[in-house]
Amino acid sequence: MTVMLSAQNLAKTYTLHTQGGTRIPVFRGLSLEVSAGECVVLHGPSGAGKSTLLRAMYANILPDEGEIRVRHAGRMVDILAANSRTVLQVRRQTLGYVSQFLRVIPRVPTLDVVAEPLIRRGEDRAAAREAAAALLARLNIPPRLWSLAPATFSGGEQQRVNIARGLIAPTPILLLDEPTASLDAANRAVVTSLISEAKAAGAAIVGIFHDDETRAAVTDRLFDLSTAKAA
Ligand SMILES: Nc1ncnc2c1ncn2[C@@H]1O[C@H](COP(=O)(O)OP(=O)(O)OP(=O)(O)O)[C@@H](O)[C@H]1O
Ligand SMILES: [Mg+2]
Repeated sequence: MTVMLSAQNLAKTYTLHTQGGTRIPVFRGLSLEVSAGECVVLHGPSGAGKSTLLRAMYANILPDEGEIRVRHAGRMVDILAANSRTVLQVRRQTLGYVSQFLRVIPRVPTLDVVAEPLIRRGEDRAAAREAAAALLARLNIPPRLWSLAPATFSGGEQQRVNIARGLIAPTPILLLDEPTASLDAANRAVVTSLISEAKAAGAAIVGIFHDDETRAAVTDRLFDLSTAKAA
């Protein structure tokens, strides 16, 4: 199996500079490898550091120690040491991330919010919008909403727009932070299928999932942060 993402010996402690420099140790000595076609589910109680680990893998936060390497354009790239231009390229082509909440871009219609990652990749605008429409339809976002900005959408609608935006341009590595948290059973099932399809296409996936149904459907391996942390 091809290793797509390798995290070695990570340590992270947050320091609250505005609160007397209080230190919050999250994990240390954490190592994890994820292969193509595999879905590793992060496990552990609230506050265990699941989102912190995912954000580190997206180079959104910098751990205090350790290394994170991702397979990008045929070679392993240390994304914590890479310059910002490389990080951008890695994110565009290799490393997808679906955060828990949609960062709403004011006034941009939903269809364009979803189509944007494909257009950025060089896809023709009409084709990208067509792909966005198909994905939104699959996620049960009614067409009457496609021309509106998602700012006024319900929590579950925004989450589905977020998922559509995160999955429209396939990436070899996919990081998912509770993508099904505010979805009903029918829409959770759609997301489960999308995840399974990405896996079948060879994506390496690291995910956090609240509900047992989704976990049961997608998990190949559990990574327990409560034990990893003590290492
Ligand atoms: N930006 C931050 N600054 C300071 N402390 C933080 C920050 N982000 C997270 N923490 C702290 O780090 C710890 C781990 O948080 P994290 O969000 O990674 O947990 P989690 O496992 O994702 O929890 P949940 O299941 O509730 O989402 C928590 O104790 C939290 O208070
Ligand atoms: Mg979290």
